[in-house]
Amino acid sequence: GDASLGTTKNANITCIHFGDYEINTWHTAPYPEEYARNKVLPLCEFCLKYMSSGHVRKRHKLKCAARHPPGTEIYRHGNISIWEVDGARAQLYCQNLCLLAKMFLNSKTLYYDVEPFMFYVLTENDAFGCHFVGYFSKEKQQPYKTTGTNNVSCILTLPIFQRKGYGQLLIDFSYLLSRVEGRPGTPEKPLSDLGLLSYRKYWRLMICRFFFNAREKAADKKTIPNFSVMDITKSTGMTPDDVISALESLEFLVRNPETGKYAIRLNWEAIDMVVNKYKANNYVQLEPSKLIWAPVP
Ligand code: ACO
Ligand code: ZN
Repeated sequence: GDASLGTTKNANITCIHFGDYEINTWHTAPYPEEYARNKVLPLCEFCLKYMSSGHVRKRHKLKCAARHPPGTEIYRHGNISIWEVDGARAQLYCQNLCLLAKMFLNSKTLYYDVEPFMFYVLTENDAFGCHFVGYFSKEKQQPYKTTGTNNVSCILTLPIFQRKGYGQLLIDFSYLLSRVEGRPGTPEKPLSDLGLLSYRKYWRLMICRFFFNAREKAADKKTIPNFSVMDITKSTGMTPDDVISALESLEFLVRNPETGKYAIRLNWEAIDMVVNKYKANNYVQLEPSKLIWAPVP
């Protein structure tokens, strides 16, 4: 029952049975005691319900009608969909999702207070259904700030799908929403080690892509206009702070020793390398025209 929620850690659980996979867990999550006694925790891959035994799981599989996340499919391209799930309308699903995510996050995350959040769930689709790959959550109501609002609270790719570019796809999608909203976004801090690696990589790619495309567009390739940090912010949805830190990590910022001011100095070799490397790895790319979505006013 609810009384035991949040009081027990799943100290025994070492792996989850999810769809056709057994996935080793990285951290503990506060599942109720009766579910945390076993080593293997069975989960329904569609409704994310957790179960007390393999027997219960088999029975559930026969009767569970869900074949995709609850909520609205707001993006579909190829065999990939992204679903917008409102924490206030699909509470149980979102709570189950947060518990699942907690097993791969060591920071403290929310589990039960899901109403203030939207969840964006990425699925890989086949004839049988839309299979969970990863998600991010986002706080619904945030005051407008020119310095940016949080466009991701928590992000996860299930370990069996990691290092295939889905993290970058989810991050790219979070910035697409920020651009549609017309306000720059940044992930909630602190980031995990893997979160930081993924974001740094994504930010560098965004900056390089921005200049790469500007060069493609420039009629005379030698006279590419000067861009400011704000220009990059407007085009990418990244906050000025994140733009500056990415420019720094690419070593594109130079300080004028006389004035003390910083200027952008590009290294085209580095830009070509980053963009071409990304194109070469054949990751699934976001197709912004496939988004059907308007922000809540
Ligand atoms: N080791 C080294 N580099 C890595 C690793 C790793 N294990 N994982 C990701 N990276 C870097 C790489 O540069 C990688 O690109 P590459 O594979 O082309 O070299 C890049 O990050 C992004 O890889 P993706 O495949 O796009 O990302 P993935 O689908 O693996 O998801 C994520 C990244 C979501 C951070 C995943 O690692 C995860 O779910 N981790 C557990 C939960 C977590 O830590 N979430 C972030 C918390 S912070 C927050 O929520 C705001
Ligand atoms: Zn189910």
